[in-house]
Amino acid sequence: MPELVPVLSKEDINRMISALAKEISTDYEGRKLILIGVLKGAFVFLADIIRNLTIPVEVDFLRVSSYESSTSSSEKIKLTKKVENDLLGKDVLIVEDIIDTGFTIEYLIQYIKSLNPCSVSVCTLIDKVERRRKGVKINYAAYTAQKGFFVGYGLDYAENYRNLPEIYDLKL
Ligand code: IMP
Ligand code: MG
Repeated sequence: MPELVPVLSKEDINRMISALAKEISTDYEGRKLILIGVLKGAFVFLADIIRNLTIPVEVDFLRVSSYESSTSSSEKIKLTKKVENDLLGKDVLIVEDIIDTGFTIEYLIQYIKSLNPCSVSVCTLIDKVERRRKGVKINYAAYTAQKGFFVGYGLDYAENYRNLPEIYDLKL
């Protein structure tokens, strides 16, 4: 039986989100901010961030396929849903659930840059550092962990557990 070890409670998450949204609201004051959520994992996180921002914001999503029901990172990344909003003149904040090896976010930064926004920054719910292979700059991280496999609050293992309101470390 897989075991779910609690990592972040609802209260922890609320605290992290309001601190993060405050920082983003200050940093992007007077600019044209667009948050681009990486489906599916980031949808809950993004929904909470935007409701805590005090500045105007656009929202869009993109989707990449990776992991395919395993806990090991695939270096083969495929864009399965493109950005639809126009990014010209806008400051993009990519919202990811987890940055692990860094391959996915490196690919996404290149893709977003090809759409000619004013700037591209990265915001992640969890910055998981132990297996990092790419030296990408993470501008905002709600939580930093050495390792683990996290589920809940939008994060899945084989499409399960996204609905849990807290974050757990899944021990298989
Ligand atoms: P990377 O390319 O190795 O950085 O992988 C990042 C992607 O793998 C994230 O967008 C997640 O969807 C997925 N991922 C990595 N670690 C976890 C985890 O602990 N739980 C759930 N998904 C994960
Ligand atoms: Mg993801």
